[in-house]
Amino acid sequence: MKQLRDLTAVITGAASGIGLELARRAAAEGMRLVLADIDSARLETAAASLELSGDRLLLQRTDVSREHEVLALADAAFARFGGVHLLCNNAGVGLTRVSWEMSTADWNWVLGVDLWSVIYGIQHFLPRMLQQPDAGHVVNTASVAGLLSTPGMAAYNVAKHGVVTLSETLYGELLAAKARVGVSLLCPAWVPTLIHESARNRPQRFGAARPAAGLSAAYEAKSAQAVKSGRLTAADMANAVFDAVAEDRFYVIPHRRINNAIQLRMDDILNLRNPTQLG
Ligand SMILES: NC(=O)c1ccc[n+]([C@@H]2O[C@H](COP(=O)([O-])OP(=O)(O)OC[C@H]3O[C@@H](n4cnc5c(N)ncnc54)[C@H](O)[C@@H]3O)[C@@H](O)[C@H]2O)c1
Repeated sequence: MKQLRDLTAVITGAASGIGLELARRAAAEGMRLVLADIDSARLETAAASLELSGDRLLLQRTDVSREHEVLALADAAFARFGGVHLLCNNAGVGLTRVSWEMSTADWNWVLGVDLWSVIYGIQHFLPRMLQQPDAGHVVNTASVAGLLSTPGMAAYNVAKHGVVTLSETLYGELLAAKARVGVSLLCPAWVPTLIHESARNRPQRFGAARPAAGLSAAYEAKSAQAVKSGRLTAADMANAVFDAVAEDRFYVIPHRRINNAIQLRMDDILNLRNPTQLG
């Protein structure tokens, strides 16, 4: 999709980080925006920074881990602007713990926000996007965690691997259906955002995670440090996404130096070698 002016973008997790930069770039392209986030106060502040007129903007508090809230978001977006052309399933959370210290609630929270949200987005937006006369595009934010298996991030890795294969599957299906809707998959490595403070938005129904200790605490500190020292910015991610949408390109992996780790994992698999541990 090359011409985006006056088309409508829906972006989840738009109050912060990569989602906010996707919104900023979509606004710069002249799109109408539907911005969703669980944190309505931060979403208001973020949206104000875009300086858009009210008739081009819809803000909706949405917990993307709840199906009826994603359905309500789709209903609101189509009702308000008559169509959705760019859907960014971007909201996500991280939790760093060794697998055996994660509770069922921990798993449900991470899989709910990071994987089920994308499934709900496809279920509730895509059928209507496919019926539109206009072209459309879906962008799913996964992570290089969907291509690697870094210790200490089990639920995140599982969710993001799910988003990768879901998106690859969807790509083939849309092609077979000769649909005018494309799909891209964003897989960032470390980007300085608030992802390391994800617990701030953990819904009450999941309770709180037990404080990390021992190896879990070491992994938690290491991943927070890696996020904070990420060299590419959230704006770099947004620019890479919009380039891919314009070129109808599927894989968006802006951190090119991660290729070595991906190659190593593939070689481990193909050579039946035990998983190589990095760093
Ligand atoms: N920052 C990184 O290093 C990195 C790396 C790879 C992938 N990602 C992915 O990028 C995406 C955006 O994350 P970010 O880095 O910008 O983090 P961020 O914390 O800055 O932004 C995430 C946004 O999602 C929102 N959110 C959290 N739970 C939600 C829910 N239940 N419903 C709706 N919104 C919810 C938060 O309020 C926040 O505004 C996520 O999918 C994340 O997994 C980030």
